[in-house]
Amino acid sequence: MLRALSDGEFHSGEALAQRFGVSRASVWNALQAAQAAGAVLHKVRGRGYRLSGGASWLDAAAIQQLPGAEAYTLEVVDSIDSTNAELMRQALAGAPHRSCLAAEIQHAGRGRRGREWHSVPGGSLTFSVLWRFNQGMSALSGLSLAVGVALLRSLREFGAADLQLKWPNDLLWQYRKLAGILIEVQGDVMGPSVAIIGIGINLQLPSVVRDEIDQAVTDLAEIVASPIDRNALLGSLLRHLHDVMADFEAQGLTRLRGEWLDAHAYHDKPVRVLLANGNDLCGKVVGLDEDGALVLEDAGGQHSRVNSGEVHLTRRAS
Ligand code: BTN
Repeated sequence: MLRALSDGEFHSGEALAQRFGVSRASVWNALQAAQAAGAVLHKVRGRGYRLSGGASWLDAAAIQQLPGAEAYTLEVVDSIDSTNAELMRQALAGAPHRSCLAAEIQHAGRGRRGREWHSVPGGSLTFSVLWRFNQGMSALSGLSLAVGVALLRSLREFGAADLQLKWPNDLLWQYRKLAGILIEVQGDVMGPSVAIIGIGINLQLPSVVRDEIDQAVTDLAEIVASPIDRNALLGSLLRHLHDVMADFEAQGLTRLRGEWLDAHAYHDKPVRVLLANGNDLCGKVVGLDEDGALVLEDAGGQHSRVNSGEVHLTRRAS
């Protein structure tokens, strides 16, 4: 129904009911649900409904034509709990290496550290990629940093300048979050293993959705003047992911580390890291190890490595 409403025309409840072979009450319920999911509908008495700003919907056949995308088995679904959760289920049932699942709506999108990931039909890009590794899970440390480089390269291609990376896996603009990466792994310590690489990008978040998010956010519409074709963006992301993964599989972060550090939002800045065990660690960010660990320097010049945690600036970024 949202696809029908995004052609720029108004559609009456009655016409929609007829077109989809449902009652007007069902149309109303569906539109309520779409609004609750963040779709911004424009309603005019006597004319009906249309989707504000239109939307470019994902089209698997169109994406598959784009250079680089042919390496993937791609599926686009209208709605799913979480593309990460579904792709992990498919991975355990034997889905092939380089499967990609994209969804227009996630009704239980997952963020890092048990958080919810908010997205909007037509105003976000949410997808996951299944990557199988011969090595064990220990070889995957640093993977999210490599994926961050792919995001950076792709979004720059669409005109997004001054993007920043935040360790371990956020993409920021002016210290506000533009995209997130959630990597979930399964397998043996010695191998083989599988990673589900989930990526969520804010393209155009309405204020009702921004208000639900408990951190500073931005969207591509704020950064790039011309509207983004979501199919082209997904194609480009898959191409850059493919290149970056080839590097990562061959040499870990060796060839990607410099590029990552050049975009690091918190380099040389004082931070507090909330560690997985509940403790925190303060210091100045001085580097990134070969395996992706963040290196901090304390007031006495002592260095420590952080493998997982959440980083906060201790002074306002200027
Ligand atoms: C974060 O920054 O907290 C990570 C966000 C990752 C969100 C993406 S959206 C596609 C994929 N499916 C999910 O449920 N989560 C990831």
